[in-house]
Amino acid sequence: MRALCWYGTNDVRVVRVPDPRILNPRDAIVKVTLTAICGSDLHLLDGFIPTLKRGDILGHEFMGEVVAVGAENHTLAVGDRVVVPFTIACGRCFFCQRELWSACDNSNPNAWMLEQAYGYAGSGLFGYSHMMGGYAGGQAEFVRVPFADVGPLKVPDALSDEQALFLSDIFPTGYMAAENCNITPGDTVAVWGCGPVGQFAIRSAWMLGAGRVIAIDRVPERLLLAADMGKAEVIDLTVTNVFEALKDATGGRGPDACIDAVGMEAHGATIDDWYDRAKTATMLATDRASALRQAIHACRKGGTVSVPGVYGGLVDKVPLGAAFGKGLTLRMGQTHVHRYLPMLLDRIVRGEIDPSFVITHRLRLEQAPEGYRTFRDKEDGCIKVVLKP
Ligand SMILES: NC(=O)c1ccc[n+]([C@@H]2O[C@H](COP(=O)([O-])OP(=O)(O)OC[C@H]3O[C@@H](n4cnc5c(N)ncnc54)[C@H](O)[C@@H]3O)[C@@H](O)[C@H]2O)c1
Ligand SMILES: [Zn+2]
Ligand SMILES: [Zn+2]
Repeated sequence: MRALCWYGTNDVRVVRVPDPRILNPRDAIVKVTLTAICGSDLHLLDGFIPTLKRGDILGHEFMGEVVAVGAENHTLAVGDRVVVPFTIACGRCFFCQRELWSACDNSNPNAWMLEQAYGYAGSGLFGYSHMMGGYAGGQAEFVRVPFADVGPLKVPDALSDEQALFLSDIFPTGYMAAENCNITPGDTVAVWGCGPVGQFAIRSAWMLGAGRVIAIDRVPERLLLAADMGKAEVIDLTVTNVFEALKDATGGRGPDACIDAVGMEAHGATIDDWYDRAKTATMLATDRASALRQAIHACRKGGTVSVPGVYGGLVDKVPLGAAFGKGLTLRMGQTHVHRYLPMLLDRIVRGEIDPSFVITHRLRLEQAPEGYRTFRDKEDGCIKVVLKP
């Protein structure tokens, strides 16, 4: 089959690789009909996530048709149309039983790698390095789905692939980010980053009762989408002092909740961003965290900072004093995708949201390297790329 493989920093290629096979009785093989490139994939492309190997298949947002099922998988049948959570979870361990799906204890065969860095390892993820399990990803014609009796969600015929695909990651991720804000009716929620995750965080903040949503970015067409489809007030960080603008907009009090939907590769307009650039370039730091710092700084006393943006290592100069001094609640993490699927599917079916609003680029799998570059460089108005194998 053909698949998009990682060959090194800024080097991804579509090559021929062996087809996946059923390895465990709960597996399924899915023939991918639509897959997407995520901001998280850019962290792989840019070399911010270690433990990739040449030839690893990337991709964790995908859906398709079941073409084979293992002997102990009694919930799926050949021919089912499914969307697959990017987090791999067994459904039976201590964490899965508590709906902490991205903390599954049984799906990361390389847990020892993360245990050294984090104490304990999270779940395995599709196409996301060896420390996350070393699973082949879904930017391919076929993919093996482990624990396929608990993860994949059957998609009703009435929904198109483009409407269902983002249940795999960015819609639940935006939703959990907003849920983590403890929104009470009328709250003001500020969202850093108007990429795909930020766009779904904005829409979800409204769903959960926000009274105002203020979105921050530096890319004009992303701000435009946040204002247009997201009905957010917007701040362009390249021309406005974000902290002052947020303070002014909230009567001097600050937003009730701040969402960092940017993560480890922030582009700031502040001095700390230059500091991060120098330190990450010389391997003295792992993440560029100017958005996170600003979110903590801007949040009102007693407010919540919710972090769906990915961080990887030991983040420098995080203003813990400000977080402590203001009594902030900090919430973060890989999304517990499985937890949200039936409810969010229902919202799509009822017409509350059509997740395809973020798609700007529809490419063939062969064009994936070009899609990665366009998405990374935010060229050509690119907000979300989907690929058809
Ligand atoms: N928690 C999870 O489970 C989960 C799931 C999916 C994605 N993510 C993470 O969410 C983050 C966003 O993903 P995406 O697909 O939207 O990525 P993206 O790269 O398309 O979007 C990031 C946006 O942030 C903007 N930005 C950069 N610096 C900024 C700053 N200082 N202030 C405000 N905006 C700034 C960029 O211009 C861009 O529009 C990534 O870190 C990704 O890895 C996490
Ligand atoms: Zn993703
Ligand atoms: Zn589990």
